[in-house]
Amino acid sequence: MCGIVGYVGHQSAGPILLEGLQRLEYRGYDSSGIAVLDRDGSLAVLKRQGKLRDLEAAIVAMPSGGAGIGHTRWATHGVPSDRNAHPHASSSGDVIVVQNGIVENYRSLKAELEQTLAAQGRSWLSDTDTEVIPELIARELARGQMFEEALQAAIARLRGANAIAAFHRADPTRIYAARKGSAGGMVIGYGDGEMFLASDLPALLPHTTDVYHLEDGEIAVIDSQGALIHRADRPRHRPEPRQVDLDPVAVARGPYRHFMLKEIFEQPRALSDTIRGRARLDPPSALADEFEISDATLRSVERVLVIGMGTSLHAAMIGRWWIEQIAGIPADFDNASEFRFRAPVIGPATLVVSVTQSGETIDTLGAMDHVRDRWGAPQIVVTNVEGSEATRKADASILMRCGPEVGVASTKTFLGSLAALYLLACRIGKARGSLGDADLGEALEQLLTSPSLVERGLALSDQCNEIARSYTGSTNFLVLGRGIEHPLAMEAALKCKEISYVHAEGYAAGEMKHGPIALLDQQFPVIALATRGPLFDKMMSAIQQVSARRAPVIAVGDEGDDELAGLVDHYIGVPPASDLLTPFALTPVIQLLAYHIALARGLDIDQPRNLAKTVTVE
Ligand code: AGP
Repeated sequence: MCGIVGYVGHQSAGPILLEGLQRLEYRGYDSSGIAVLDRDGSLAVLKRQGKLRDLEAAIVAMPSGGAGIGHTRWATHGVPSDRNAHPHASSSGDVIVVQNGIVENYRSLKAELEQTLAAQGRSWLSDTDTEVIPELIARELARGQMFEEALQAAIARLRGANAIAAFHRADPTRIYAARKGSAGGMVIGYGDGEMFLASDLPALLPHTTDVYHLEDGEIAVIDSQGALIHRADRPRHRPEPRQVDLDPVAVARGPYRHFMLKEIFEQPRALSDTIRGRARLDPPSALADEFEISDATLRSVERVLVIGMGTSLHAAMIGRWWIEQIAGIPADFDNASEFRFRAPVIGPATLVVSVTQSGETIDTLGAMDHVRDRWGAPQIVVTNVEGSEATRKADASILMRCGPEVGVASTKTFLGSLAALYLLACRIGKARGSLGDADLGEALEQLLTSPSLVERGLALSDQCNEIARSYTGSTNFLVLGRGIEHPLAMEAALKCKEISYVHAEGYAAGEMKHGPIALLDQQFPVIALATRGPLFDKMMSAIQQVSARRAPVIAVGDEGDDELAGLVDHYIGVPPASDLLTPFALTPVIQLLAYHIALARGLDIDQPRNLAKTVTVE
């Protein structure tokens, strides 16, 4: 979703802002802009629809000022265009603002401010909701407020979640940042005589690893020497920066053609890192340290509910399956965006587990609030981002250790979530006594083999590429699976949709004959996930039914399964895995198939159209 950067210091702000925006491109955007203020008060605002290269091309001479803010916009209110791109200025031209989030009450605020604008012979310059913010700040300034007070007063008038960066034309020594609600992160970076601002760490890493994460309700006044934090309910303070343990190289693409491919290939390491120290065999224990929820709580709950969105919802579905199988406790999954607007009856004896790689997905955060406000049930979050909003809302966090994920399509964080959920299922089973030491030890021993299963799956990349090339022209796919392979079928279909722009549906194979079979003909390929699990025979029947309609079948089954290979048009053999570990064996192949289809179609794999990495608006 939208990205924000800011800079104040001794260097020229323009190139730093542009480079920062480039590092946030992965979040998804459709236009961009920067505003730079020189020490002599001259202001340059440049905005362009399209990619950052369009903005760069529009810059005749890079403005040289020492302070500025920049933005990549993902349109919500008003089409993607030069005029709707941020930064936006007050009608006086003095207050410059960029915003992530939505001003939900912008209509009434526009109506309120319009009279003043009309009296001055001015009108709105964009169709955005954001434009009311500089106007509100300017009005407060005209009443004699300091900039930070004016910003605070303006924010108090906004409904919705907002992350804002701003400055005043008369003061080239300061920029301001504010955060209200869950509109994505805002991180301040500390340099030597210079300060940086960004909505996400990758934009800061080339400059500094000393950071402060702005909290909900905080406003930061930032000059070249540091930041002063204001909030309504606490005294002002200068925060202590925290050093983040992130390698800038981790956010570079290296020899890979796309970040997505790099991240698919990083999965064995992401898994080993996530599991390291958390699966002990002698004596068997899972997640023994670092866990803020007691065994007594885990024993007292009667049910587990796992929630998420998109790929994280598919991980939640698999997590539900493991919690039932391994821990032997009733478990369910739910779509966070539906759950939060229902009146779900969950009760305080339900353990709610939210899965969100970013920790900032608005629907998942909304669902967590719903659980807290309505039921006060214990909550755990599985996330890849330490310090994210979801970690603040949950009673306990299980951090994946996947490193930054830049490709919009979640790949390594899918497997990271799975490893975390598997460990959690083991921990719940042990705490409740439903999993004896021997069974726990065996389950953990299996998990420890997951990185090598994935490694072997990655070796199938060339075969996936070859098969994908035969289907470049296909515009529809049906993906079938059963049991634990059903959520994987859904994940495979999601990957095809988001990066290949191919219509794909993931279905439980048993459901196929209740409707989707009507679609099948020679032009409608079917991907069948069919490893030799307990439902293999039923999958074979489904494949026979598909073949009888002459639809081409690509089957993904166990290595050396000649019976399956003989029945289908294309066959990919993955390393045989136990029922519990099937997701680790199948995932690389479903990701690589989608990747190679998108590659053959010549698409923008890391930044697919219309998509954002972190969905912070409703
Ligand atoms: C996955 O490839 C997608 N980009 C998307 O479905 C994503 O999984 C979803 O938006 C949830 O994000 P989260 O894990 O950050 O909460």
